[in-house]
Amino acid sequence: MNEIWVGTNWKMNKTITESVPYINKLKEISKQLSSNINLFVIPSYVTLTSIKEIIRESNILLGAQNMHWKKEGPYTGEISPSMLEDIGINLVELGHSERRQYYNENDAEVNKKVLSALNYKIKPLICIGESQEEKNHNMSKKSLERQLKTCLKNVPKKQINEVLIAYEPIWAIGNKGSIADSSYIKENINYLKNLLFDLYGTKGRDIPLLYGGSVNKDNFMKYMQITNVNGLFIGRSAWNINDFEFILNKLNYYFLSRTNDV
Ligand code: PGA
Repeated sequence: MNEIWVGTNWKMNKTITESVPYINKLKEISKQLSSNINLFVIPSYVTLTSIKEIIRESNILLGAQNMHWKKEGPYTGEISPSMLEDIGINLVELGHSERRQYYNENDAEVNKKVLSALNYKIKPLICIGESQEEKNHNMSKKSLERQLKTCLKNVPKKQINEVLIAYEPIWAIGNKGSIADSSYIKENINYLKNLLFDLYGTKGRDIPLLYGGSVNKDNFMKYMQITNVNGLFIGRSAWNINDFEFILNKLNYYFLSRTNDV
């Protein structure tokens, strides 16, 4: 695959005031990046409109952290795909483990959201990952397969090239997360690639697979160098713009040298 995806989920962090200088700087950084690096940022809902204004002339992609599957209705506190479409967002993160853990989201709901996002021409970034318990019981692959197949149910082949998958082991995410071994990640990423090939043929093989979970300045390159990893999904280590700049510059150099552009 001749392009990579790199982005950050801010979770419930950063006010509009805090977002503006970060995004202004990110816009400057993005001008130096190869056009084959798809850079995205997924801030809180309330900052989306302000951020969209700032990045309008740039190639930074904007995402939301969740959405309801219905266009509108009596669902207090929810955000609909038509609202996100109106803002002009490019992608939506669906099924993050924190949504599953704290808000009881399940694969069947994520599937409804995936199908709805595709109808609205918003790219679903589907998050899947096994728990520590599943890992301990050698059930990681089974769990990943169940999540992947349910989340992608009824997604037709002609729309599959709009989908992104983030593999994020739950035990590797956040402050309490551990750094995953790249050999373990490689094995599961390859498993997912093969499953996608079984489901969608060569189009399935082209679905970008991102890795996320305690990615930081010291380890991002080892994950990026895993053959079937097509990008990185970063939390804490991208919330300080200088740290994210460090990672992006190194990835840019790595990517350009890989494609012999330097
Ligand atoms: P982290 O978060 O990089 O802070 O571990 C990753 C994620 O939740 O996607």
